[in-house]
Amino acid sequence: MTASGTALSLSGLTKRFGGLVAVDDVTIDLESRKLNAIIGPNGAGKTTLFNLITGEIAADSGRVTFQGRDIVNRKPHEIVRSGISRTLQIKSVFGGLTVGDNVRAAVLAHERIMTPFRPVSSYRAVAARSNDLIEEVGLSDHRGALASSLSYGDVALLEMALALAAQPKLLLLDEPVCGMGPQETERTVAMITGISRHTDVILIEHDMEVVFDIADFIMVMAQGGILATGTAAEIASDAKVQEAYLGSPEDD
Ligand SMILES: Nc1ncnc2c1ncn2[C@@H]1O[C@H](COP(=O)(O)OP(=O)(O)O)[C@@H](O)[C@H]1O
Ligand SMILES: [Mg+2]
Repeated sequence: MTASGTALSLSGLTKRFGGLVAVDDVTIDLESRKLNAIIGPNGAGKTTLFNLITGEIAADSGRVTFQGRDIVNRKPHEIVRSGISRTLQIKSVFGGLTVGDNVRAAVLAHERIMTPFRPVSSYRAVAARSNDLIEEVGLSDHRGALASSLSYGDVALLEMALALAAQPKLLLLDEPVCGMGPQETERTVAMITGISRHTDVILIEHDMEVVFDIADFIMVMAQGGILATGTAAEIASDAKVQEAYLGSPEDD
């Protein structure tokens, strides 16, 4: 695998909370332009792994290589600037602003961070970019709606638009369809698939149907470590995974 074909490399990544090893010596190369998914039982260390990647918590040891640079234990804002966004910060949305204003604010904030000594683009350019993002996440009908009036699922879509406003090269999604009904789930899954065509995505998801449906590559975590890796078919037929996570196979 060439360096340019790698979305993210983890090497010996380890995080302890007291006596608990939440992430235990995780080493993996995740390929670019694949929808990579991380699954595993509750407490397996999935969210902690994301927190290590985004710099929200400090690793005890190991490396996180992104775009050829080790970013482990950098500050979160530096990591965002290097091109990794996540949608974890629920309530990053301003309820008192419209959908359109939320997205425009995020686009402007990103421009100011990336090019602080250049005047921001014209209102028209910012509006156009915002409209593209709103369309991409399927919120065009709600452009003028206050964010506080959105359904739960639509807030999640707006959060994705805000994450994409930073023009990430890698987007980390932690259980994005959690709490959504079937229709919202379907819309969101379609959107994630669309995003993964132009941006690397790593998806933590606990709905197995969703993962098996859309993931190109799956990493299964258990007790902080990697239990198995492979395609949906490989994971579904892996005896270790069935034992630890899926329960025993059904007779059919
Ligand atoms: N800040 C923390 N302090 C102490 N223990 C934590 C902290 N965050 C997570 N843990 C523990 O680390 C383990 C992994 O948690 P987490 O990464 O949230 O798992 P997952 O996302 O796979 O459900 C769990 O046992 C959890 O209780
Ligand atoms: Mg979690």
